[in-house]
Amino acid sequence: MLSGKRILLIIGGGIAAYKCLDLIRRLRERGAKVTPVMTQAASEFVTPLSVSALAGEKVYSDIFDLTDEAEMGHIQLSRVADLVLVAPATADLMAKMAQGLASDLATTLLLATDTPVMIAPAMNVRMWEHAATQRNLAMLRGDDVAVVGPNDGDMACGEFGPGRMAEPLEIVDEVIAALGDKPLKGKRIVVTSGPTHEPIDPVRYIANRSSGAQGTAIAAALVSLGAEVVFVTGPADAAPPHGVELVQVETAVEMRAAVLAALPTDAAVFAAAVADWRVVGASQSKIKKKAGALPTLEFAENPDILAEVSQLIDGRPDLVVGFAAETDDVLENATAKRKRKACDWIVANDVSPATGIMGGSENAVTLISEAGAEVWPRMGKDAVARQLAARISEVLV
Ligand code: C5P
Repeated sequence: MLSGKRILLIIGGGIAAYKCLDLIRRLRERGAKVTPVMTQAASEFVTPLSVSALAGEKVYSDIFDLTDEAEMGHIQLSRVADLVLVAPATADLMAKMAQGLASDLATTLLLATDTPVMIAPAMNVRMWEHAATQRNLAMLRGDDVAVVGPNDGDMACGEFGPGRMAEPLEIVDEVIAALGDKPLKGKRIVVTSGPTHEPIDPVRYIANRSSGAQGTAIAAALVSLGAEVVFVTGPADAAPPHGVELVQVETAVEMRAAVLAALPTDAAVFAAAVADWRVVGASQSKIKKKAGALPTLEFAENPDILAEVSQLIDGRPDLVVGFAAETDDVLENATAKRKRKACDWIVANDVSPATGIMGGSENAVTLISEAGAEVWPRMGKDAVARQLAARISEVLV
């Protein structure tokens, strides 16, 4: 899977550095050649001897080592790889990367490299959540650095929360996704996401509780499998993913126009929570409050984008996926919805308040297709997105 791929592994100084020994083994098992670089702090946590023994390569650590420079200059070392992987990426390393500091061999290589960079952050939960780290993370993402993890869980310091380094096999999967063949390369997919806002007047609107998290995660997962994604989003809380063609809309009518303009596509994923109704004749000026006089709103039905695209005679995408957020009789309603709208798949979920799904970070879905209903275990919205993207890639061949 990774045969012939060269990975420059930069090991930062954190307790998670011990996982690097396993990571090296897993990468090599899949055929990758791993060249290790350790920061000075990293060698306080694992010994260069262990790292070197597992990598089958010498460990680079000192920028002023004349022997190394004579063998291979640091600029050359930064460019020999197909991927530079930083694991664990400590808060300090992330800050230096974001600022472009080159204070030791690891940071110099990161500044000098012209190959893709991936980081696996690991740190205490407070350090991860600190505004400075989140700022640095956003900058790194903006610089096209791929990020894997961190995961939630118990930490070596006794606290609990996000900050644990992703497990070696999760990192390996991301490395394969980054370096292996991308199954959705050349495929164009439109994804809708978020709520719509239907104006009553210039300051008031009708909306719903969709955060856009699931749609955003799906678009990101499709991009990472190589798809060209047109991301049509209503006013969502979730920041749009990187690497998409972004179309921001406000109303259902605008969303429909944007989706039709994006066609033809190979697939369409309708994750938006589109308002069912809009206000007829929304006022151009603010409706004044008058004592004792309640305004009456007249509604019109919004276009059903999913049904319309599913029933296109010309230019129907090969795969149309709809969502069904239900609070009662989820399976029955979602199965009927698939038929009624004529889409290929329905991703059904129970959004009754007790599930905490609407606006939360997890989802429990059932995938309904011609073949029947497939219940997926409850998992993070990112994991649902990755699985759905993988399934989409299986049918879009
Ligand atoms: O009918 P319901 O709103 O429950 O259907 C949900 C599915 O239909 C979602 O995939 C949603 O994105 C899509 N939809 C749409 N246009 C609408 C209403 C829903 O595309 N006007």
